[in-house]
Amino acid sequence: MTARELMAEAEKARKASYSPYSKFAVGAALLTGSGRVVTGCNVENASFGLACCAERTAVFKAVSEGEREFVAVAVTAGPGHGSAPCGACRQVLHEFAPNLWVYFRDGRGRILRRRLTALLADAFIWDEKKPKKGNRK
Ligand code: THU
Repeated sequence: MTARELMAEAEKARKASYSPYSKFAVGAALLTGSGRVVTGCNVENASFGLACCAERTAVFKAVSEGEREFVAVAVTAGPGHGSAPCGACRQVLHEFAPNLWVYFRDGRGRILRRRLTALLADAFIWDEKKPKKGNRK
C-alpha cells in the first residue's frame, strides 16, 4: 500500500472527527504488519484536556483488536493543513513500532515521509535494569 493510498484512508477517517471545540478535524490510518488498515479520528471533550488525537485513537483501536505490529501511519488534517503528529502520539506509536513510517502533510499539501525514529529521537523506554534510586529492595 502506498503512502498516498494510506493517506486516502486517513482522509475518510477524518470525516468522523468529533472536534466541535477546536474545529480541527484529524484522521489517521495505521497499516498493520498483517496488511490491515485501522483508522482513527480525534475525539474532543467539553473538558478540553481530555481530547484524544486521531493517531492515539487508531493505535488504541488496533491494539484492542489484537494488532501490535505496525508498518506505517498516515495523518491528515485536510490538504490545506500541516499535520505532523504531536509529541504524545509519537511516544505512543514508538511503544509498538519504533521503526514506523510516518506520512503527514506539510502546509502546502505535500505528503512528507519520515521514520518515527527521526521524529522522536531518544524516546523514553522502560528499562527494567535501570537502577532505581532509593529503592534497594
Ligand atoms: N490532534 C490530533 O488529532 N493529532 C495530533 O497529532 C495533534 C492534534 C487533534 C487534537 C485536538 O482535537 C485538535 O487536533 C486540536 O489540537
